[in-house]
Amino acid sequence: MEKLGKRVSYQKAGQQVQIQFEKGTAFVNVLTDRIMNVFLPLETKDHRSKAIEGDKEVPTEFQVAEAEGALVISTSNVVVKVYDDFFVDFYDKNGKLLCADSRDGRVFQSQISERFIEFLKAEGHEVPDATDFDYPVQVIKKIQGDESFYGLGDKTGFLNKRHYEYENWNSDIPQAHTDSYKALYKSIPFLITLRNDCVYGLFFDNTYKSYVNLGKENEGYLYYGADAGNLDYYFIAGETMPEIVEGYTYLTGRTPLPQLWTLGYQQSRWGYECAGDIRDIAEHYRDLKIPCDTIHFDIDYMDGYRVFTWDDKAFGKPGAIIDEIGKQGFKVVTIIDPGVKLDPGYSKYDEGIENHYFATTPEGEVYVNAVWPGDAVYPDYGKPETRAWWADNQKFLLDLGVRGVWNDMNEPASFRGELPEDVVFTDEDRPINHAKMHNVYGHLMSKATYEGLKKYDGKRPFVITRACYAGTQKYSTVWTGDNQSLWSHLQMAVPQLCNLGLSGLAFAGTDVGGFGADCTPELLCRWVQVGCFSPLFRNHSSKGSTYQEPWRFDKQTIDINRKFVELRYRLLPYLYDLFRECEKTGLPIIRPLVLHYEKDEEVKNLNTEFLFGEHILVAPVLEQGATKKMVYLPEGTWYDFETGKEYAGGQYYLVDAPLDVCPMFVKAGSVIPTYDVVQYVGEKPYDTLKLLTYPGKGSYVHYQDNGEDFKYQDGEYALYEFHNENGVLTAAMSHAGYRPYKKITSTNVVTNETTEVVVAK
Ligand code: GLC
Repeated sequence: MEKLGKRVSYQKAGQQVQIQFEKGTAFVNVLTDRIMNVFLPLETKDHRSKAIEGDKEVPTEFQVAEAEGALVISTSNVVVKVYDDFFVDFYDKNGKLLCADSRDGRVFQSQISERFIEFLKAEGHEVPDATDFDYPVQVIKKIQGDESFYGLGDKTGFLNKRHYEYENWNSDIPQAHTDSYKALYKSIPFLITLRNDCVYGLFFDNTYKSYVNLGKENEGYLYYGADAGNLDYYFIAGETMPEIVEGYTYLTGRTPLPQLWTLGYQQSRWGYECAGDIRDIAEHYRDLKIPCDTIHFDIDYMDGYRVFTWDDKAFGKPGAIIDEIGKQGFKVVTIIDPGVKLDPGYSKYDEGIENHYFATTPEGEVYVNAVWPGDAVYPDYGKPETRAWWADNQKFLLDLGVRGVWNDMNEPASFRGELPEDVVFTDEDRPINHAKMHNVYGHLMSKATYEGLKKYDGKRPFVITRACYAGTQKYSTVWTGDNQSLWSHLQMAVPQLCNLGLSGLAFAGTDVGGFGADCTPELLCRWVQVGCFSPLFRNHSSKGSTYQEPWRFDKQTIDINRKFVELRYRLLPYLYDLFRECEKTGLPIIRPLVLHYEKDEEVKNLNTEFLFGEHILVAPVLEQGATKKMVYLPEGTWYDFETGKEYAGGQYYLVDAPLDVCPMFVKAGSVIPTYDVVQYVGEKPYDTLKLLTYPGKGSYVHYQDNGEDFKYQDGEYALYEFHNENGVLTAAMSHAGYRPYKKITSTNVVTNETTEVVVAK
């Protein structure tokens, strides 16, 4: 990136500081007292952000002054110093340096001697290359030495990203995901930096392919680079990690409250090939009394993999099977891929051609690649008209009785090589190329799907997407794509879900049991113990792999699956409360311990436990054959969920964890709301709330509404406030906009005494 030279002048325009350098103008935008935007318009004059929608600027007092060779911009919480060459440093309000640009540039370090390079290349190894070393868009920040890094979406590997490098380029990876993959399906260029006595966030908003190297190239710096676009990043200050997540989700949006049934258990498989297969799944769940809300229809239900069609030969009269299993309480989610079959005479293809809804070559021909239906064309979701058409197409599904839509293959995937960079898409009102559209393709598809469902269904849309960009959480839940039935993938699920949550994507899950390869009964039992706490709880597998519905294995596996699925249904009100909190603060459901115990060195690299909300700590067994688990409990007092045994925090314990046990601990003073187990949401009204009350002091707010539509936004909800004084509970209703429970009970988990709770009005 070319240096800007000496700083010449500056002006204040509202909350923007325009800074002229010898070779260009740069900007610092004050959005709030904690969020600053650094902007260098290398490509376009404005941000044209896909992640940030609406005006995020709040009236903020700030000062601009010149001091010691820098332009100093200060709010009540952050001080930004801008130097010559547009070097930018951030301080906290007390003058502590948080984050500084490196002045020395990057240092190319290759340890490979010249004569080995050819050999390495011959076997297909990656060889660092000194040419093309710097990126056209690049920021280098000093590493002070005490940093841990979190966030970055769905990247593989461990929780703390320090010493690793990643890329942001949405990628369909069917091979087993390993730590060496630099990119998977999602691009979330958001990073939380935790130091011993401070924390901050950086969000790089640029949709081109980008690179994040966190002290791997050099212990002394991290860099962010992009192939093109603007330099456009946000510095987010805060006192604690939750405040950083709050700041980031203030910018990019928060996961909206979902329908309650979407938090139930879900079954899927690529390869339910006919209505009979679906019927069989539904019957098994109800016969075995394993609760289940949702059955997913993979691509098999379509006519020749044509999107928005139905294969009536295999699946019967359109919608009939959906209606049939609906009577047993099942809701149906159908898959929809972006690729539209190239097939003159097929209405979706014809409509798209006629109205110019598809991406083209630079010469103006409709661009063709291949996905499941063979030759296929790609909707240009960057065009408002295409999104409106796609949104309208959701009506076809809703009319069949479908309740949620699963968007897949939207990196976009392509079987005949990647789409060339110059394929032409639209950015609202102007053409852009694939290089810029790629990382937001899934985002815009999800947005169109969300809008269609909202318009025609009126309920809270349930969309699942594989590919996404920062901010997709406003429209869709995500799953981590094609994992495999490998213990290493179960292990990876914990840091991956934690980092997705920190990156704004609170409603996430992995394919329980693993998608590819062959599941074993033990792996399924351990995976359901993680799935039970995953916001999206879906068992899904690939055609050709061992069937992995619980009954494909032995009785013990069925019983263990039932135990944890039932636990999920008991904990539904707690989970729903977490979603309500998430909508307000952005705090995720699955949280790494470091989010709440950031001063505790033991948890900065803890990959094998997580918090389910703030009150429940889950320490799942993630190793084949293990029946004991080493558990770290942070400060405070904790109670074993199953036995009620008390543990002092700040220590490690070796606890028993036979196959049917997932160690779980509840923090002292907690109040955990539960419901009776049902076979599906809606089977019976939730008239009784059963609280589990733990020794200690604490308070808890419980939220209740109809679990379906948007009426809660007009006040149709109830809020209960519980105060726990060592197991003795008092309750008050602070918002009475929804029919109250008929009964609320509290069980003191130590004495096992249950009392009825009287709610003060
Ligand atoms: C992709 C999806 C997977 C799905 C399959 C067939 O591989 O990731 O979940 O089952 O396509 O549609």
